[in-house]
Amino acid sequence: MKTRIVTVSEDALTGAAKDTIAEAGRIIQNGGLVAFPTETVYGLGGNAFDPDAARRIYEAKGRPSDNPLIVHIAEAEDLERVARSVPKAAYRLAEAFWPGPLTMILDKRPCVPDTVTGGLATVAVRLPSLTIARELIRAAGGFVAAPSANASGRPSPTLAAHCIEDLDGRVDMIIDGGAAVLGLESTVLDLTVPVPAILRPGFVTGEMIEHVLDVPVVSPEATQTPDDTAPKAPGMKYRHYAPRGRLCVVTGAMDAVSQRICTELQEAREEGRRTGVICARQQAEHYTADVVRCYGEQGDVTAFAGALFKFLREMDAEGAEVICAEGTATEGVGTALMNRLVKAAGGNVVEV
Ligand code: TXA
Ligand code: MG
Repeated sequence: MKTRIVTVSEDALTGAAKDTIAEAGRIIQNGGLVAFPTETVYGLGGNAFDPDAARRIYEAKGRPSDNPLIVHIAEAEDLERVARSVPKAAYRLAEAFWPGPLTMILDKRPCVPDTVTGGLATVAVRLPSLTIARELIRAAGGFVAAPSANASGRPSPTLAAHCIEDLDGRVDMIIDGGAAVLGLESTVLDLTVPVPAILRPGFVTGEMIEHVLDVPVVSPEATQTPDDTAPKAPGMKYRHYAPRGRLCVVTGAMDAVSQRICTELQEAREEGRRTGVICARQQAEHYTADVVRCYGEQGDVTAFAGALFKFLREMDAEGAEVICAEGTATEGVGTALMNRLVKAAGGNVVEV
């Protein structure tokens, strides 16, 4: 299959850009697949009511088909077209956080095919904030099933270049809309249980949700057990984001962290391995490594979150075999960042 790669600017959605989005919408309506930018990461979109489109998505990603897709909508009212018995909490959260990086799990309507929900009786719904994404969803008929647009197991794509790397020749179109602003996937919140549960942490944090609902939510730590055989978000059980090299995350007081990383890097060098390090800008001078990536000022978790997946891909591209990353505090967005970092490291975390 020949993949068309087109560029659309979020700031200039006129003329030719409108035509391109209209065409992308037609591709989806006709059963095809389009990779498109959102504020979190790039998504791989297909018609949410077409079981065959869902099958094509799984095939293009090499993704197990029991891992359900998120249905993306462009207007909050459309929530009721895919979810039934929508609780008040969902409306309040939609009001507070949509458009934006929050996905809600609700009971599904029969019109949502089982192939989209991985056979579950529930459906994940999100209304993204990027205008390109919303316009595309409208052009496609209003309901776009989309997982992240990476090959299964690879870091989620935050640039069109990442989608091209993983999906060129496997999808009909890739829309280049520049860098995804947030860089981590949306918060996934289960509202079908008595106590709302965060299945995947993101930029909409547990505290933000509690503030709106005025009830406690179950935190990710409580819902994520790495060896759980039946995790609530099926996607959480698969190996994720992993770079090809061995990644080690080191957490603790900064001095101890840099000492430990220096030791790890030195051992790797002595074994003749190519090394990489992911760190705060101020810390870079402490390290000797073949590939050094700085996310920004120490503790700037938003900058770190925005750069993490890109850095992991760059480590692969540069052939880093042993990679050390400085951990951050697990509060606010730090919870989501550390969740992805620890997954990418396959649980290889050292506390010093
Ligand atoms: O930010 C995002 O959410 C991006 C952009 C493209 O919107 N999408 C994304 O999709 O990250 P994906 O498929 O890579 O991750 C969706 C997660 C998976 O862990 C999946 O198992 C979970 O949501 N999920 C989807 N439907 C579910 C359901 N009905 N019940 C429980 N978990 C569900
Ligand atoms: Mg994904």
